[in-house]
Amino acid sequence: MATHVITGAGSGIGAAVARRLHARGDDLVLHARDAGRAKELAAEFPGARTLVGDLADPDRLSWAFSHQSLPDRVDSLLHVAGVVDLGRVGDLTPKSWRHQLNVNLVAPAELTRHLLPQLRASRGHVIFVNSGAGLAAHADWSAYAASKHGLKALADSLRAEEHASGVRVTSVYPGRTASPMQAKVHQQEGKDYDPSKWIDPESVATAIVMSLDLPRDAEVNDLTVRPGR
Ligand SMILES: NC(=O)c1ccc[n+]([C@@H]2O[C@H](COP(=O)([O-])OP(=O)(O)OC[C@H]3O[C@@H](n4cnc5c(N)ncnc54)[C@H](OP(=O)(O)O)[C@@H]3O)[C@@H](O)[C@H]2O)c1
Repeated sequence: MATHVITGAGSGIGAAVARRLHARGDDLVLHARDAGRAKELAAEFPGARTLVGDLADPDRLSWAFSHQSLPDRVDSLLHVAGVVDLGRVGDLTPKSWRHQLNVNLVAPAELTRHLLPQLRASRGHVIFVNSGAGLAAHADWSAYAASKHGLKALADSLRAEEHASGVRVTSVYPGRTASPMQAKVHQQEGKDYDPSKWIDPESVATAIVMSLDLPRDAEVNDLTVRPGR
């Protein structure tokens, strides 16, 4: 049975992916920002283990993990957690830049570093949930887009480095998806939010699980998922 480590499993796309993998009986290790959130996730996904560490503070992840047992086996690491804060370059503060870069880019690199030995041993799979903003940056999106452009670079370098060890690396680039993050984006844009206009997180989960389940003769490197209506 495969073991998946998932960040962001408490909401939106990550929750949809976790529900899918849980329903088919795979082993889950759900990352949570703190012990309270970990308890909630453990109650929601019976049998799942948890791993605690605040992605906003990647410098402390090493310390946090040294006080918990990391899973012995990891078949896939799914980086789904993320944050967004819109603003013009003339207004965004270093605090906002750092927060988005830490959660969206530095923490995924650090978590990957900690779990690479297990991923190499299982010839596993790392999936990065990126964004259309990781391919093109628009006005008001600089810090988020920079973090996601960086995440693409992280994924591409990791793929080149680990190909020989059999680790597969996939970046998924969803368009606007109906989740609490998208509700916040609409609020920051001053627009009414109608979730029915955007991608269902379940559809992004389908794309992610398809990438995971692809037979070993093939690897999805990059997958763009756009709203279909
Ligand atoms: N929604 C979209 O339109 C869209 C489009 C393209 C790409 N994406 C990307 O898709 C991914 C999932 O987004 P979503 O829409 O599902 O967002 P979401 O519903 O807001 O969920 C974000 C998740 O990230 C976790 N998280 C945030 N900060 C964290 C921290 N400091 N430490 C640990 N966990 C933290 C949250 O934890 P809690 O549950 O504890 O709050 C939550 O589970 C993100 O990487 C996002 O950039 C989203």
